[in-house]
Amino acid sequence: MMHIVTAVEDVRAIRWAEPGATWGLVPTMGALHEGHLSLVRRARAENDRVGVSIFVNPAQFGPTEDLAAYPRTLAHDCEMLAGAGADLVWTPTDTIVYPPGYQTYVAVEEVTKPLEGAARPGHFRGVATVVAKLFNVFQPTRAYFGQKDAQQVVVIKQMAKDLNFNLEVVVCPTVREPDGLAMSSRNAYLNPAERRAAVVLYRALTAASAHWADGERDGAALRGEMARIIEAEPLARLVYVSAANPETLVEIEGRADGAALLSMAVVIGATRLIDNVILAP
Ligand code: PAJ
Repeated sequence: MMHIVTAVEDVRAIRWAEPGATWGLVPTMGALHEGHLSLVRRARAENDRVGVSIFVNPAQFGPTEDLAAYPRTLAHDCEMLAGAGADLVWTPTDTIVYPPGYQTYVAVEEVTKPLEGAARPGHFRGVATVVAKLFNVFQPTRAYFGQKDAQQVVVIKQMAKDLNFNLEVVVCPTVREPDGLAMSSRNAYLNPAERRAAVVLYRALTAASAHWADGERDGAALRGEMARIIEAEPLARLVYVSAANPETLVEIEGRADGAALLSMAVVIGATRLIDNVILAP
């Protein structure tokens, strides 16, 4: 039986009913798709119990972003989670997570500065804060995140290390649609023409990856190739394109001497999409 609870005390009571059990935690904002479910299944395979949080976290949305419009499909999400074998779903309210008088935030410094951090000021402060709270509420053995949000993974790993969270951060591969578009709750915003255009992110990443496989190592050349492909798509507007060190997120200037993280943010119509790929040395 899957528990669906709102209060922190209810999460804790279920979490600690079997103190010897290992727990996997999958943090989400709901509007679940196969990408999220792949994390739940991985957690299911590696732990005795699986907890999932569904919380559209206001602290990680900018004032002009899509907080109000973000898709909310709780009943369907719970059906999917029961099917994937979750044991506990936490669906707190805004007031439970951020009660009146709330004033504590987690600031991860260097790795939040470029890329999404530069384009979305305050975003990672909101992410790190809510994930720290989720770690404290669930006290999981392992926590599962998707490679889809590459910088988020780097930020959470840094926070877990710096703040001594006693858990393992597990990163799961990006799940894609048959044409290569990375699954995202925001794909629901795309009209049919935009949906067809949205494959351009994957096309750009694939083209640059092919040149990497042929020996291309120049950071600017990789960025330039991806930018040209995005700019050739009339419905797309490039926000940023990056070829960076996967650990530090510092842009590769000149030749890459190890692995590379290719990433980008692109607006298709009015929908902001991100995607990335890691290239092995
Ligand atoms: P959300 O966008 O709902 O994503 C929840 C988790 O699912 C994240 O770890 C994300 O990387 C992963 N995910 C999303 N799409 C994926 C895909 N196509 N393949 C694999 N994994 C995918 O990320 C967040 O929520 C929030 O920032 C959160 C961590 C919950 C904090 O509020």
